[in-house]
Parts: sequence; C-alpha cells; structure tokens
Amino acid sequence: MARHCRQRAAPLKLALPLLLLLLAAAAAQEVKLVSGPGCADLPPSPPTELKATPGDGSVTLTFGRPSNGACVSEYQVTVLPVDAAATRSAPPRQSTQQFSLTIANLTNGQQYKFFVKAYAARYRGGGEAQVVAAPAAACDPAALPLAPTALRATPGVANVTLCWAPAASGGCVDEWRVAIQAVQQSGQRSSPAEYRRYNKGGCVTIASLAPGQLYTFSVQAYSAALKSGAYASVQATPLAPPKQWRCVPVPGLYPLCEAAAAGRCAPLTCQQQFAKGQCGAPFMRIVDPASLTIVQHCADLCGCSADPAATATRAMPDAAANATAAASATPVARRALRAASAGASSQASAAAVWASPSGCCATAPRSFADDTEGDDVADTGL
Ligand SMILES: *[C@@H]1O[C@H](CO)[C@@H](O)[C@H](O)[C@H]1NC(C)=O
Ligand SMILES: *[C@@H]1O[C@H](CO)[C@@H](O)[C@H](O)[C@H]1NC(C)=O
Ligand SMILES: *[C@@H]1O[C@H](CO)[C@@H](O)[C@H](O)[C@H]1NC(C)=O
Repeated sequence: MARHCRQRAAPLKLALPLLLLLLAAAAAQEVKLVSGPGCADLPPSPPTELKATPGDGSVTLTFGRPSNGACVSEYQVTVLPVDAAATRSAPPRQSTQQFSLTIANLTNGQQYKFFVKAYAARYRGGGEAQVVAAPAAACDPAALPLAPTALRATPGVANVTLCWAPAASGGCVDEWRVAIQAVQQSGQRSSPAEYRRYNKGGCVTIASLAPGQLYTFSVQAYSAALKSGAYASVQATPLAPPKQWRCVPVPGLYPLCEAAAAGRCAPLTCQQQFAKGQCGAPFMRIVDPASLTIVQHCADLCGCSADPAATATRAMPDAAANATAAASATPVARRALRAASAGASSQASAAAVWASPSGCCATAPRSFADDTEGDDVADTGL
C-alpha cells in the first residue's frame, strides 16, 4: 500500500520545493515517511480539532493533522453507539486520506462516539481523538419542536441525572429547558419551580437537590423563534449520602482480662499492647455495625480509624522487643507475641490471647494461694 505524507494545502511559494520532493518520491512509487518540510517521521499524535456536524441520518467529521506534525497514512474512523443497548449496530470502520468524512446510515436521535485515529502504516498505529454526536432530521423552523423521547432519570447522591433523545422529526430545537419542581406533600406550601437551560441534549446532572425529596423534572424542546416547544416529564428522588462510620477514641485504657480485672496480675500497658500490634484486636477495637460506631481503646497510641476494614496493627520493633521482655513470664502471651512477630494475623492471635482469662497479663497471674502468700509477704513488709 502506498504511504502518503499528509499536509494541508500550503501557499504556492512553500509548496514548490515540496512538490519537487513529492514528485521525486512519486517516481520511486512511494512517498517516504521522513522528516522534512511536510511531515515528521514519528508515531502520530491524535488528530487535532476534531468536530462532528450532525446531519439527517449522518454525521460529518472534520479534523486536522496531528499536532506533532507526524506523517499519516490514513485517518481511520470507528463508530460505536454510546448506548450499549442501541438497536442498530454501528457502521464498519472507514478510512480516508482527506480531513473530513461523512458517516451515513446512522439512526437519528441516537448518540454515537466517533474515534478518529491518525494511522501511520510505518508504526502500525497512531493517536486517536474522539467526539460524541447524534444525527438529527432536518428541522422545520416554522413548526413547534416535539417533546424529547426516552427521557430517563437516574438518582445519585443529592443529584439526578436526566437523559433524553430529541424527537425524530418536528420543529428546530435551539435549547433544552429543564424545570425542576419539588413535589409537595399534602398541606405543604409549594415552592417555585427552578429552571435550567442546556444547549446540548443527551445527559445532564442536576446537582444540589434535597435527598429524599421527590422531584418532577420537565424537559422542554425549546424553539427560540417560536418561544415554545413540547416537553416530557419524569419523577425521581435523589439519594441520601450513606451514613458514615465514626470512631470513638478511648485513650490510655482498654477492658482488662479477668485475671487483671481481679487484680491477680499486672496488665499489659497500652504501650505494650500497641507494640504487640494489638490495636485492631477485638477487645481493643469494638466494631458495632448496628450503630456504625467503632470504639477504639488505647486510641492515644492506636489512632482512631473510622474505616471498619482498617486494623491498626502497626508495631514498633523496639517497643515489641521491650514488650517481649515484659510479657515473657506468661506462656500464652509469649505464644501470642511469637505469632504477632511472625507476621501472623494479629487479630487472630489477639483473639486467642483474649480467650484466656489472663490474656492481658504482663506477668503470670498469681493463684489465690499465691495471692495469700503475696499478701502475707506484702504484709510482712519484706
Ligand atoms: C446503508 O445501508 C443500506 C442497507 O442497510 C446499504 O444498502 C447502503 O449501502 C448503506 N449506505 C451507506 C452509505 O453505507
Ligand atoms: C451525583 O451523585 C453521584 C453519587 O451517586 C456522584 O458520583 C456524582 O459525582 C454526582 N454528580 C454530580 C455532578 O454532582
Ligand atoms: C526499650 O527499652 C530500652 C531499655 O531497656 C529503652 O532504652 C527503650 O527506649 C525502650 N524502647 C521503647 C520503644 O520503649
């Protein structure tokens, strides 16, 4: 296939040396893709100034050469319907060596996406630009525009997206006027409708609406000359933002295990729990899906993340080593520590520790007999 070096018509003075070059190249049966006055030997960037002009059942695309000045073999145009559920399939890929192309056999009122690629055979590719347009039947300026078709409302958070298509025939539409009216409950005073104007149809998002409030949206196809046009209406209720999780910080404290609560052992400090990576353990971080509340103990060290999926398991190596020393007296704590430092799920190991009544002890809990001895020892003042 012959390669062409595309350029816009140049003034005659400039064109003459170029023409000689092209003639020489033509003599060799091929226009060489080289840098020079015409175009550069580069992979093309996308075509510039891509515009779509809708016609009756067709769309005419116009575009300019790539901004990087690359040589282009041809411009390739691919067409896809914007709505995936479109009844009629898109035309096959077409190509041209001109700076415009009319795509025919399109359905009026249906939106299409047009991809225009500046294709260089030498690089088997090139940049692509895209534009969306809908072909429309020729309109009658003396007739009132007909109501838009396929009007749909999709609720979002505090907003509603409206989509519609122009009627297939009728008067000329200069703009789309959307009236937004809150639907009043009986006994409420009605509020005035709000109006917005759009130059383009397709889809628009109406923002800043009251969540939970039912609205009526009327979309009018408006003729400026006739100062009127027919409209279609649809109702929708904007959504409320999802309720947020919140975290309640409890600094310096956590619920003690049985032995520590009974005073039979010295509990691990918050510092030590933090060092063991236990901030996310079930007894440290209490997650209540019903109220969307997280209570975070030892929050001065653990922080207070409102993300229920987050588990605060940072551990400082130094502190962990110190905690090991402090906790080495209890086999359960030692096992849990080993698991934590081996990178095992600290939440799982913490739960295992907590299953033990002495899970939070820094030192081995005294038995009741020990307690008595201990008390005796203490009482003797040794
Ligand atoms: C349009 O479609 C018809 C039949 O589907 C076909 O015969 C005709 O060649 C097409 N025209 C163009 C310009 O593609
Ligand atoms: C409309 O709400 C959705 C969430 O439902 C959001 O993603 C989108 O950004 C909102 N659009 C505008 C224009 O506010
Ligand atoms: C760990 O203990 C050593 C002394 O035993 C101390 O100097 C160091 O600051 C401690 N580190 C932490 C993070 O508590």
